[in-house]
Amino acid sequence: MSTTPFTDLVQPAPAGPALAASARGLTKTYGRGDAQVHALRGVDLDVPAGRFTAVMGTSGSGKSTLMHCLAGLDQPTAGSVTIAGRRLDGLGDDELTRFRRDHVGFVFQAFNLLPMLIAGQNILLPFELAGRKVDAGVRARYDEVVATLGLGDRLGHRPGELSGGQQQRVAIARALVAQPAIVFADEPTGNLDSDTSAEVLGFLRRCVRELGQTVVMVTHELDAAAYADDVVVLADGTVRAHLVEPDADRLVATLRPSGTGHLGTGGHGGVAR
Ligand SMILES: Nc1ncnc2c1ncn2[C@@H]1O[C@H](COP(=O)(O)OP(=O)(O)OP(=O)(O)O)[C@@H](O)[C@H]1O
Ligand SMILES: [Mg+2]
Repeated sequence: MSTTPFTDLVQPAPAGPALAASARGLTKTYGRGDAQVHALRGVDLDVPAGRFTAVMGTSGSGKSTLMHCLAGLDQPTAGSVTIAGRRLDGLGDDELTRFRRDHVGFVFQAFNLLPMLIAGQNILLPFELAGRKVDAGVRARYDEVVATLGLGDRLGHRPGELSGGQQQRVAIARALVAQPAIVFADEPTGNLDSDTSAEVLGFLRRCVRELGQTVVMVTHELDAAAYADDVVVLADGTVRAHLVEPDADRLVATLRPSGTGHLGTGGHGGVAR
């Protein structure tokens, strides 16, 4: 009887792209009984490193919940998240906090600026918290981020003295100055006019192209998604599609709930990558 050498049966796994983040069976359930909400229903997702991924989907589809769980800000009910090769569920509280500080930037949908600190202090808060020195390199990056976001003349003001769009830009600056490997941004252009949006999106894209950072951005706007490489579409707590470099027609067709003539995002506009 001839035997096949074992090595012939075991094909080496093809080397896939490096992953910045991944989720397996990610489930998040809020509340109990009648009030129970299934925000995430077993999401499997791979976010490739060094790419700009947009997350789209109707309001309530689970986008913010997914971002919070991926970033380790919220605990999933079930399932696992891996960032930069580390399983987050294996980390203790302090370890997780440190890991997030070193690897993850987050732009909250609701900004989360500290009201008693002026804008400049808010932007440098992650350094303060980490006990990290603001050296010449950080200062140069700070100046670049602040200039790109047009915040130069507002740095001495507290959040309460800033417009919604200015607060949003401070929140974006705070997430970017430390150049984390992965940046999660929850509707970062939701409060910005179209010119400022284009600046912010162009800057995020440069972070990916020139610095090799990974950006995951929630947006309702096709114009904003056009800056991304890939688009994840969520529907009712599940991944409906993960589109790699979609063109406008494919993206619009995916976003349109079947049988309706309108988009499921509330967004409009063309895709021009
Ligand atoms: N803390 C919470 N307690 C109970 N339910 C929650 C909580 N946070 C979110 N939800 C519910 O989970 C679902 C998903 O919410 P999530 O904020 O992730 O949606 P989203 O896609 O980000 O929506 P939007 O586009 O409006 O920001 C919604 O039905 C929401 O009401
Ligand atoms: Mg949200």
